[in-house]
Amino acid sequence: MGIEVVVEGLTKSFGKQNIWQDVSLTLPAGEVSVMLGPSGTGKTVFLKSIIGLLKPEQGRVLINGVDMVNSPEREIMETRKLFGLMFQDGALFGSMSLFDNIAFPLREHTRKKESEIRRIVMERIDIVGLLGAEEKLPGEISGGMRKRAGLARALVLDPQIILCDEPDSGLDPVRTAYLSQLLIDLNAQIDATMLIVTHNLDIAATVPDNMGMLFCRNLVTFGPREVLLTSDMPVVSQFLAGRREGPIGMSEEKDAATLAAEQLNGTGPGAGPRSVVPQLEPSPGMPVRQGALRRRERVMSMMGQLPQAARTAILNSYTPAPGGGRL
Ligand SMILES: Nc1ncnc2c1ncn2[C@@H]1O[C@H](COP(=O)(O)OP(=O)(O)O)[C@@H](O)[C@H]1O
Ligand SMILES: [Mg+2]
Repeated sequence: MGIEVVVEGLTKSFGKQNIWQDVSLTLPAGEVSVMLGPSGTGKTVFLKSIIGLLKPEQGRVLINGVDMVNSPEREIMETRKLFGLMFQDGALFGSMSLFDNIAFPLREHTRKKESEIRRIVMERIDIVGLLGAEEKLPGEISGGMRKRAGLARALVLDPQIILCDEPDSGLDPVRTAYLSQLLIDLNAQIDATMLIVTHNLDIAATVPDNMGMLFCRNLVTFGPREVLLTSDMPVVSQFLAGRREGPIGMSEEKDAATLAAEQLNGTGPGAGPRSVVPQLEPSPGMPVRQGALRRRERVMSMMGQLPQAARTAILNSYTPAPGGGRL
């Protein structure tokens, strides 16, 4: 089962440039979370801080009692073995077959026999739907297949926490939809805690249990998906609608004068509730998502603290419709 990741008061700067400050959130064990945010808001920096590759100057990242910021490097290295990472570009070696790429972490970090390595690699290749392509070179396959190969490689060491950095970048909408389903099926199969960084609105609307957003050096919000999806905060609704009007400008922040002009022209971000589309279910034949069962209990117990629109959306999603599906 996945492991909870607790982030407390994290602040990161490079020299004088503050990237974000006082970020606190908990990735619940075995649940799928998404971090949204415009380009350059420090999403990749956040992932690297969670695995201890970058050191925030304040705050803690607690995993099984180890602080990925301040604990001794030896403990951080040990804890890093719990992670599977899927990078933006797939990060495959161009001269190696998919099989060898996916086997690489096993050959590098374990002393397993070649027969055992083959069994594990083929099993992961099967999970991501690449059976038959294992002898191909990365340059011979599509971008979507390279993403899936990157995901298979992230899975060979049996990670309990999976971080995906923009898994959709470079994919068309159909391939992105397949990838979304793959991420949910994967979660059903291995019950790992997952954090997906993306600015893809379809992934945001259909994949996660929980969602947050980075903007203007702050975590705008983090919580059950319905909170963000029904939020009327201007920055959230602008982002989810993909509009030019609103606080997000071309280089992140708009100046006050432009914002005021939009308000006057009536082109500011429109408020009003948005509809929440149902979350993806595992494909037929997949196990029930244990994370989803735990999440239901967790969210039901925090209903009193949630905004009304989010509460309504949650209750709707958990109420079976007469026909079997959902209301
Ligand atoms: N190693 C680094 N040294 C200095 N600045 C960095 C480093 N890594 C990232 N940055 C800066 O941090 C900011 C956020 O980057 P990033 O996390 O890549 O954004 P995102 O992934 O949200 O698009 C950018 O301004 C980037 O230039
Ligand atoms: Mg990035």
